[in-house]
Amino acid sequence: MADRDYPHIVVPPPGPKAMAIVERDAAWTSHCYIKEYPLAIARGSGVMVEDIDGNRYLDFMAGIAVASTGYGHPHVVKAVQEAAGQFLHICGSDFYYEGMAALCERLAKLAPGATKKRVFLTNSGTEATEGAIKLARYATRRTAMIAFKGAFHGRSTGAVSLTSSKARQHAGFGPLLPDVHHVDYAYRYRCRHCAEKPACTMGCVTSIEQDLFARHLDPHDVAAIFVEPVQGEGGYVIPPPGFLTELRALCDRYGILLVFDEVQSGIGRTGKMFACEHEGVEPDILLTAKGLGSGMPIGAMIVRETIDKWQNGAHGSTFGGNPVCCAAALATLDVVEQGAMANAAQQGERMLAGAKALMAKHDCIGDVRGVGLMVGVEFVKDRATREPAPELVHRIVELAFSRGLLLLGAGKSSLRLAPPLVIDAVDVDRGLAMLDGCIGEARGG
Ligand SMILES: Cc1ncc(COP(=O)(O)O)c(C=O)c1O
Repeated sequence: MADRDYPHIVVPPPGPKAMAIVERDAAWTSHCYIKEYPLAIARGSGVMVEDIDGNRYLDFMAGIAVASTGYGHPHVVKAVQEAAGQFLHICGSDFYYEGMAALCERLAKLAPGATKKRVFLTNSGTEATEGAIKLARYATRRTAMIAFKGAFHGRSTGAVSLTSSKARQHAGFGPLLPDVHHVDYAYRYRCRHCAEKPACTMGCVTSIEQDLFARHLDPHDVAAIFVEPVQGEGGYVIPPPGFLTELRALCDRYGILLVFDEVQSGIGRTGKMFACEHEGVEPDILLTAKGLGSGMPIGAMIVRETIDKWQNGAHGSTFGGNPVCCAAALATLDVVEQGAMANAAQQGERMLAGAKALMAKHDCIGDVRGVGLMVGVEFVKDRATREPAPELVHRIVELAFSRGLLLLGAGKSSLRLAPPLVIDAVDVDRGLAMLDGCIGEARGG
């Protein structure tokens, strides 16, 4: 397309200016940062990211599913600029401003289900998880938590106790929160309960009762089950229909709270405002963050009124619900509701079909799954054994970067395709064509 000046590589990345930043960063930033590849951004626009050396990339990862409205969306930027010009802070835990009340009202009304909700605003997804852990304990006066293998809920000591993504996220930090139990997620491609069966039998959910509750844990000690309606860091795993419904029923049998972590899957990414709406299940607590502020740090814990029992002063946050971030979130929701969410559904179908076509062509792809613009492509060494191929994913991501496509892995050996929700068909096709070339070369090389 003549009017698109990306992808465009002028100097093999990292170019000299990027290298200078990488070296400076390496000298002074904490060792714990992962740094996927040496992208040093200078600016962005829509689905295009430009690095400091003038290389332009097509972004298929949205800054880890955050740049929901793309880079520099004029409606969001204007809202941020106007809010910043008014006041940067007053502390929403203690004082009032319209943006906070407006955002809480809007999120409460957007959340699935007919029951009245209340909203607590946070700086991040982790802080939302942390709040939910505290509230679940407080509201139920129970202590145990159930989460899923492969889950990612954050990295603070409480949230990371629920996370079960990579061992190094726990190593050296113990003891973590006691009484956290990890059970199997509905990961159809790697399910040990019903892999051999023609259809999912929800064995992962029934085993919670038949195994965990029967042998190890009194269900009446369980405060909450935390679950991602689509597992994000775990590999963009889409559970079969019925999974959330079964979990809801299980929770209702024992008075357990059901917490949906929609930090990654929420705010239109799956083609609905929240992924749980695809199954029509209402949680007790819903967590969101990432795409909510288009990159400004804001998250939310949306709670059924009947669960929001804690006493005044029991919880709070100095920066949570910062006025500039509230403005960004309100503007983001405008963009999402006025077209980006519908676009995510439409382009998501195109992306999924395109990824399936790649699977038909490349036998190193073992599974493709997706809902909206959350598409997972799982690579294997051998389709029969399903042995993961993490090195191949790594090579593909590196090659794509060198050619001007930003990708990101997830799980053991999957790629997550998660572009900004404003991507169009031309860029979906161009990105997939680039991915095709990278897979071919990575396998040959
Ligand atoms: C599902 C989910 N929950 C929680 C988090 C933590 O959010 P944050 O990094 O904003 O603290 C993430 C981040 O990747 C996530 O994907």
